[in-house]
Amino acid sequence: MNVAFFSTKPYDRRFFTAANASHGHAITFLEPRLTSETASLAQGHEVVCAFVNDQLPAPVLEVLRAGGTRLIALRSAGFNHVDLMAARRLGLTVVHVPRYSPHAVAEHAVALMLALNRHIHRAHNRVREGNFSIEGLLGFDLHGKTVGLIGLGKIGLCLAQILHGFGCRVLAVDPLPVPDAAKEHVTLCSLDDVLAAADVVSLHCPLTPETRHLIDAKTIARMKRGVMLINTSRGALVDTAAVIDGLLSGQIGYLGLDVYEDEAELFYEDRSNRLIADSVFSRLITLPNVLITGHQAFFTNEALTTIAGTTIQSINDFAAGRVPEFSLTKAG
Ligand code: NAI
Repeated sequence: MNVAFFSTKPYDRRFFTAANASHGHAITFLEPRLTSETASLAQGHEVVCAFVNDQLPAPVLEVLRAGGTRLIALRSAGFNHVDLMAARRLGLTVVHVPRYSPHAVAEHAVALMLALNRHIHRAHNRVREGNFSIEGLLGFDLHGKTVGLIGLGKIGLCLAQILHGFGCRVLAVDPLPVPDAAKEHVTLCSLDDVLAAADVVSLHCPLTPETRHLIDAKTIARMKRGVMLINTSRGALVDTAAVIDGLLSGQIGYLGLDVYEDEAELFYEDRSNRLIADSVFSRLITLPNVLITGHQAFFTNEALTTIAGTTIQSINDFAAGRVPEFSLTKAG
């Protein structure tokens, strides 16, 4: 099939070319992000492959459909950036990659926790400059601390396993029953109980209209003073302005982000020679107890191999007239 591949980076080209080697789809690797301005580049391609900061609201889907696209293959787990109702109305099939490596994201969340707690980012800078003072780098043992997970799906459960190994008490909130919770030593409780008890709060739920700004001034006020907040899910789960207020007042002691509300204008590009116009983001990165990575929690060899393989399999299934296993638009 002809595939228009948006937001291409060199690593995408490498992994997808390898996964496609024995399948022969004609992939057009395009560098621009998919937006209303670039959607016409997909003209004549039956498949559009999109990433997390590509934009797929109804008007973009309409342009794609008119240009001959029939399958939208998201190379991500999250699908908050696609208007699924509009896709169904237009007869477009949408697939995603729901489980590539929950370990990749869970391990990145732990990396943020440990780096923040032990001030690794600051220690590294000091040592590079010949400053071996450890004043100001005091941390705490994770052992014995309470970690609250918001969302106990694939990533949440994987993180719970790791944290159990550290000797943490793990609490979680999830609207769905999680049969494996007890096996992974997780206590399910209400959001209020999680917020009140947790020394570390880590977000692992999808971005939906209900979870948008789940962390705002009100929920922050219900957390323990000095809490560590980790977000590797989606930026808009957090009201960034409220979090900055929380950091300045000391209510939030540490902030680790892999995602940011307005990341689409920043992430995945080298902007080191330009000024960052986003004053909220600029403020955040000046704070010593804030650690931000640019949406890279998924970025492991294992995860990229699975993302490429699963996406090519979905395209193969679609081409053969089968309903792809990870279709988001199938009936029922
Ligand atoms: P999943 O679908 O396995 O689990 C999500 C869980 O959140 C489900 O159990 C669901 O019931 C729960 N949930 C839904 N609404 C909730 C609420 N209001 N409060 C608490 N829990 C709620 O998804 P998975 O694979 O664990 O991924 C979680 C999120 O991680 C994705 O939606 C995606 O946004 C993000 N992600 C980020 C990546 C990165 O590179 N930073 C990579 C992959 C995923």
